[in-house]
Amino acid sequence: MFRQAQWSEPLIMDLGKKGRRGHVPPRAGGKIEKIIGDVDRLIPEAMRRQSQIKLPELSEVEVVRHFTRLSEMNYGVDSGLYPLGSCTMKYNPKINEQLAAYSSLNVVHPYQDARTVQGILEILFTLEQWLAEITGTHEICLQPAAGAHGEFLGTLLMRAYHRRNGEIGRRKEVIVPDSAHGTNPASAAMGGFDVVVVPSDSNGCVNIEALKSVVSQHTAALMLTNPNTLGVFEENIGEIAETIHEVGGLLYYDGANLNAILGKCRPGEMGFDIVHTNIHKTFGTPHGGGGPGAGPIGVSEELAKFLPVPRIVFDGEQYCLDYDRPESVGKIKGFYGNVAVLLKAYAYILSLGSEGLRDVAEISVLNANYTGERLKDIKGLALPYGEGRYRKHECVLSAKTLKNETGVTALDIAKRLLDHGVHAPTIYFPLIVDEALMIEPTETFEKEELDRFIEAMRKICEEAYSRPAKVSSAPHNTAIPRLDEVKASHPRTMALSWRMWSKRKGQDLWSYRARK
Ligand SMILES: Cc1ncc(COP(=O)(O)O)c(C=O)c1O
Repeated sequence: MFRQAQWSEPLIMDLGKKGRRGHVPPRAGGKIEKIIGDVDRLIPEAMRRQSQIKLPELSEVEVVRHFTRLSEMNYGVDSGLYPLGSCTMKYNPKINEQLAAYSSLNVVHPYQDARTVQGILEILFTLEQWLAEITGTHEICLQPAAGAHGEFLGTLLMRAYHRRNGEIGRRKEVIVPDSAHGTNPASAAMGGFDVVVVPSDSNGCVNIEALKSVVSQHTAALMLTNPNTLGVFEENIGEIAETIHEVGGLLYYDGANLNAILGKCRPGEMGFDIVHTNIHKTFGTPHGGGGPGAGPIGVSEELAKFLPVPRIVFDGEQYCLDYDRPESVGKIKGFYGNVAVLLKAYAYILSLGSEGLRDVAEISVLNANYTGERLKDIKGLALPYGEGRYRKHECVLSAKTLKNETGVTALDIAKRLLDHGVHAPTIYFPLIVDEALMIEPTETFEKEELDRFIEAMRKICEEAYSRPAKVSSAPHNTAIPRLDEVKASHPRTMALSWRMWSKRKGQDLWSYRARK
């Protein structure tokens, strides 16, 4: 059984001593001090810092040990299986990180004259071409910083399109299936649209009759993930596209699940007009941790004129920046987006090539089906929706029977998995599955790892029947026991910065929480 390290680790601000140093810069004979002084004088008096910043003072070894101990209490994609459904937590080759860190790439400044940054513009331009090829769209904009950000840009493009057609007043509705990721209805609402939800059918696909009953002259767009969050491919996608286009609506593709179809089929050819991709899932950057991501948007030829500026164009001799797009929706992010993340995607696609990308799709689909098929035979679990049909990149199991028969919930299973040294899957999503366990065993997991995961699930379900209390009180072997899920994510109880923490320090955190 797995056991995580447990250190009683203070905050870094509580470590060290005044005057301790990790690095002593070489003597510059007063030159540096002079430069700093000169720069300081350029800052207006009112904007100058009045007090010293309170930084911890530590030796190098204290810093190294502090972060090493913290990392030993952590778990990440480099530690082992991380089947967090819909998040595509795959191992990312380290060479991509090295390439993105090249000084020739990461010291250039976006304000430099375009003639002096031809190399990076060529890389970004080429990446746009590749993503257009992969998604089957006409033009790509790399600016959005996340999937949800891409979705938001998508809704601005919908507005621009319908405004151009003089229909923005009446096209108020965006349709989303009930299996949609929460960001879809949220983005539609932020874009100023009313959200209309359509139910899924017994196969987990969009219920076509229900869809037909809600489309109208008020439909601005349908937002769809395909394969959807159940891991099921919308087999009626042709009919769905026709239904939306017939009434003048647009089809938006949430490409967070692109892993499943890479090199196999293309959203543009399924009829989608706007497509976002999650670079930080499918193309070599880790997802999560609040770190920078990228959610490029691809569009059909008709919508290209609305994309944010600048556009990178090649005039036959050099790469230039085109700001002359009078119908552009404007900027969505500074410059070209999160370039370091985009560089990793470039390296990832270049290293795999088209065959490698197809392998990604095939192996991720194989892994999901292997895992789903074996798990559904475990007593207490089921694989609802699409009986007998293949899944794509993920499978969603239900622990409803287990809960009814033992009282052990999907949350308890997720916590007990941590005791087996495995990251928990996503739970309680999609909302249409009771006691959902959403498992995405990406292409970067070996069969032995999947077998270990399946074995851990089997043991936990058996334990639920024999010793339910043991499962319900898990985890037992982790650095931190079970957290109160609500308190742990409530802004009032979380201290997100040292400043917040020090404001609360001296007070009992729990009584602070109790006081509201
Ligand atoms: C299906 C789906 N759509 C959209 C998103 C939103 O992407 P992001 O987290 O980059 O905003 C996610 C994120 O996990 C997702 O799984």
